[in-house]
Amino acid sequence: MNAITTSHWPYPRWIAHRGAGKLAPENTLAAFRLGAQHGYRMFECDAKLSADGVPFLLHDATLERTTNGRGTGGDLPLGALAQLDAGSWHSRAYAGEAVPTLEALARFCIANGYFLNIEIKPTPGQEETTGRVVGETAARLWQGQAVPPLFSSFKPDALAGAQATAAHIPRALLLDTLWDGCLDTARRLGCVAIVCNHALWDAALVAQVKGMGMRTLSYTVNDDWAAQRLIALGTDGIITDRVDLFSPATP
Ligand code: G3P
Ligand code: MG
Repeated sequence: MNAITTSHWPYPRWIAHRGAGKLAPENTLAAFRLGAQHGYRMFECDAKLSADGVPFLLHDATLERTTNGRGTGGDLPLGALAQLDAGSWHSRAYAGEAVPTLEALARFCIANGYFLNIEIKPTPGQEETTGRVVGETAARLWQGQAVPPLFSSFKPDALAGAQATAAHIPRALLLDTLWDGCLDTARRLGCVAIVCNHALWDAALVAQVKGMGMRTLSYTVNDDWAAQRLIALGTDGIITDRVDLFSPATP
């Protein structure tokens, strides 16, 4: 595994958000398969810990929006999470889709040569532990693979946890605002990239981040005008829901 640096950046520009955006139930294996059918070779997912410490995929802290479960997802052990229906909320075609473990998605990506952006999305209060366990888990799953996953998080403590257990797996700081000291925090955490709300990028910020030796990525870009702006600014990566609109073959 070569170290990921600004000059060695193996990841494609186009990244399918939560698998296939809104076209399939987010963070289910069916969604990642659909994103792949649209030609995508890199995916973003949201990972947190079950009550018994296993990384699984869920965006919200709670289960209600995207499953038939109730309460905080991280309060349930994996065995209970595995019983949930994570597809019916979306449409009948996906009824019975399971809540996947991170390991299940890793196996799918590794077997097919797909790249993965693991957003570490801790249950509140579990930031550092989640980073540590996701780090250990990813290091084990991707051992011997040429290209590691890319970790990202809005939570510096989660990135610090991942750095402690998997220093060789690259990290990115997610930003929804340019809070005081955010770029210094990214540098302190050894981040290789900043992943911004796309509206935050302008020429000055792109130059500043690149000048610090980091790559520049954006979420969640669903309009052509926004994608064109980001490409013209010279940014490196675009996370999108619109796998049906953007061809990942576009350079
Ligand atoms: O990782 C990019 C993006 O997914 C961050 O926001 O809320 O969609 O997880 P969110
Ligand atoms: Mg996310």
